[in-house]
Amino acid sequence: MSLILLVLIPVAAFILFLIVLLFIFFSIPSRRDFHFFRRHALVTGGSKGIGFQLAVGLIERGCNVTIVARNVKDLQKASDELQVLADQRGQRQKVQWKSIDMTADYNVIKTAFDDCAKELGPIDILINNAGHSVQAPFSELPVTDFEKQMKVNYLSAVYATRAVVDDMKARKTGHISFVSSAAGQFAIFGYSAYSPTKFALRGFADTLHMELLPYKVNVGVLYPPNTDTEGFKVVLEELLTMPEETKLMSDAAGLFTPKFVAEAHLKDIADGNYTTTIGLDGWMLGVLTAGASPEKSLFRALTQGALAGIFRAITLVYLGYFNGITKKCYRRRLAEKEEERENERKEE
Ligand SMILES: NC(=O)c1ccc[n+]([C@@H]2O[C@H](COP(=O)([O-])OP(=O)(O)OC[C@H]3O[C@@H](n4cnc5c(N)ncnc54)[C@H](OP(=O)(O)O)[C@@H]3O)[C@@H](O)[C@H]2O)c1
Repeated sequence: MSLILLVLIPVAAFILFLIVLLFIFFSIPSRRDFHFFRRHALVTGGSKGIGFQLAVGLIERGCNVTIVARNVKDLQKASDELQVLADQRGQRQKVQWKSIDMTADYNVIKTAFDDCAKELGPIDILINNAGHSVQAPFSELPVTDFEKQMKVNYLSAVYATRAVVDDMKARKTGHISFVSSAAGQFAIFGYSAYSPTKFALRGFADTLHMELLPYKVNVGVLYPPNTDTEGFKVVLEELLTMPEETKLMSDAAGLFTPKFVAEAHLKDIADGNYTTTIGLDGWMLGVLTAGASPEKSLFRALTQGALAGIFRAITLVYLGYFNGITKKCYRRRLAEKEEERENERKEE
């Protein structure tokens, strides 16, 4: 190869790279920083776990906060703690709670949210966090669990968003968050009722992000991994009686504190980012599943472009490992049944 070609090829590649960079730069929507001070934030599922820590972080950033959940005692306790924190800041911030079952009829939720806005002003930040999970093999889950999961994890977020979005559009400001899950990016054994509800949130958020761009209303999705909350402990207790498959697969993931998860998301809201992932595994999953999801950061967009292929290869190895667990457990159970039958025959 001549010397000229040796020089020309890298130069052409560099120019091509710059052209691609410019195309991406001018294609991604610009990030809008979001300021929390004096805003009214409403957090569903704000009495415990990730939702409570999000409420703490919002108070620390100067918001007035409404927390929503069902259990009145828990709400009262959480609200008192938040008010103490708010008073310590000396900024005359207010905290209120509202007992609402987020699986209720839309009109009930709309009326309750309007009441919240009467007290603390129009809702500027909505965090759709209320949710819970049931896990079992598909054939063992009652079909009603699928309806319940869809209601609490997905439809509650649709109703809450519908209740606030017109006002945000009219005021041309606001932020709406959806708390999905790592299981909303990567579905494994036992999650047939839960994962689809969390995947659905992403589809909803992707659409909403595009529709709300002209109105300057930001949208974000948080994908928590295993997080040390009451909700997660309940799942752990259930895991004790669950098939080995889910236990073995869940062991592959780490455990994070709700504070860590909440802070990461609030930072992304402030920076105007769309996606929040947690930890190294979460970041890899985020890159891998970015697909046609919105992206506002040039750095993140380039990382996704550069690494998606290699992360796909790594995920295929993970999937192979999980499929191996599924087959191994199936064969072991078959062998156990066979042994039982053999013992019964001997006893006869
Ligand atoms: N913890 C994890 O490992 C993890 C991982 C991935 C994703 N997530 C997601 O993160 C979110 C928070 O999880 P978490 O672990 O912090 O949960 P958590 O500790 O169980 O708290 C759940 C909160 O939601 C409220 N809630 C539940 N059902 C409700 C309903 N029908 N109406 C109104 N409020 C309701 C609960 O209060 P009441 O019971 O009083 O209503 C509580 O305040 C959930 O969407 C969950 O799916 C969690």
